[in-house]
Amino acid sequence: DAKPEIYKGLAGVPVDYTAISKVNPETNSLLYRGYPVQELAANCTFEEVAYLLWYGELPDPEQLGAFEDRERSLRGLDHDVKKVIDALPIDAHPMDVVRTAVSFIGAADPATPDESPEANLDKAIRLFAKLPSIVAYEQRRRNGLHYVEPREDLGYSANFLWQAFGELPELPVVSAFDVSMILYAEHSFNASTFTARVITSTLADLYSAVTGAIGALKGPLHGGANEAVMHIFDEVGSAEHVGAWLDEALGAKRKIMGFGHRVYKHGDSRVPTMHAALVSLVEYYDRPDLLELYTALADEFTARKGIHPNLDYPSGPAYHLMGFDTEIFTPLFVAARVTGWTAHILEQAAANALIRPLSVYNGEDQRAVPVRETA
Ligand code: CMC
Repeated sequence: DAKPEIYKGLAGVPVDYTAISKVNPETNSLLYRGYPVQELAANCTFEEVAYLLWYGELPDPEQLGAFEDRERSLRGLDHDVKKVIDALPIDAHPMDVVRTAVSFIGAADPATPDESPEANLDKAIRLFAKLPSIVAYEQRRRNGLHYVEPREDLGYSANFLWQAFGELPELPVVSAFDVSMILYAEHSFNASTFTARVITSTLADLYSAVTGAIGALKGPLHGGANEAVMHIFDEVGSAEHVGAWLDEALGAKRKIMGFGHRVYKHGDSRVPTMHAALVSLVEYYDRPDLLELYTALADEFTARKGIHPNLDYPSGPAYHLMGFDTEIFTPLFVAARVTGWTAHILEQAAANALIRPLSVYNGEDQRAVPVRETA
């Protein structure tokens, strides 16, 4: 028998078309609906980018105003959602808490079975508006603090930081946070987005697809890497220890989190923009030591292995400087990526084919079940 070709990890296999984003590793570019992501990050708010991902075009001022009003009016959490979150152990991983809260919202939403594009877009905007309340509350709950109500007079990112820390954030912090949300929003058929598309392809509801995507994002090979980067920084300690730490880590064949990418082999297109945002935060918080460690590890690892940092490398320390607990970094990624996930859910549903690949059996040959003798 000729051995069939196996595409382990589906590496290099195109499985469908998408009009949402284009990743080009050759030119190191990422386009959302045709616009370079770094230009969007420099000129637009996250709300405008969310609108772009869902509707295909940037909003005009009137459309943006209406969209912002809608998002702001949907921000708060019902008492029941808070009750569900409060029922979870205080030391549960925040990704598990966010996954459970989204799942609960889906179970409680009477519109869940309505799979029309309008109803699905409505659910997407609802989750987009509510995730900051969930994530910010979890940042506080695990530190013994109470829920902070959203403020309708603040934009998405300023309100997110307000709900997380109960203080009005300053402009450089809001800008860096907004940039991180834009960069994390969408990235074609990554593992969590593909998970969402697989679930949607069975005609399951949008909340099920987002809940599954959150599970896929949790792993350290995907979204969990931004959290893992900070653990590495804690291990290394300071710039002067980088060489010795790398000797040991590479000797033990460890994967260094925040480096490498399935698609980009010459550097992640999002990194320069997030790097600039991190530098502005380092100046704002006066933490040159953190930048020294960050630079030393990146330079040394890339020089030794030729593997470049990915977006999680600058975003981890950026979120740390803003005051987020390390375990909250991946939930922040959820709040951003819910826009891309739901855009893909809508796209998958509009031209659906059940996603069901083949496997090649390599277990025991067919054999007879032994007949037991009766006593
Ligand atoms: N540290 C050490 N070695 C690495 C790393 C790394 N971060 N990344 C790749 N390599 C090595 C790997 O060991 C392998 O070496 P060899 O050929 O000698 O066995 C070679 O490079 C190819 O790597 P691979 O794991 O086969 O490639 P992949 O395309 O399956 O992996 C990846 C991509 C992202 C899973 C991997 O680079 C990795 O594990 N990185 C660390 C986790 C991480 O930062 N993930 C975030 C990804 S991007 C943003 C996001 O989705 O959140």
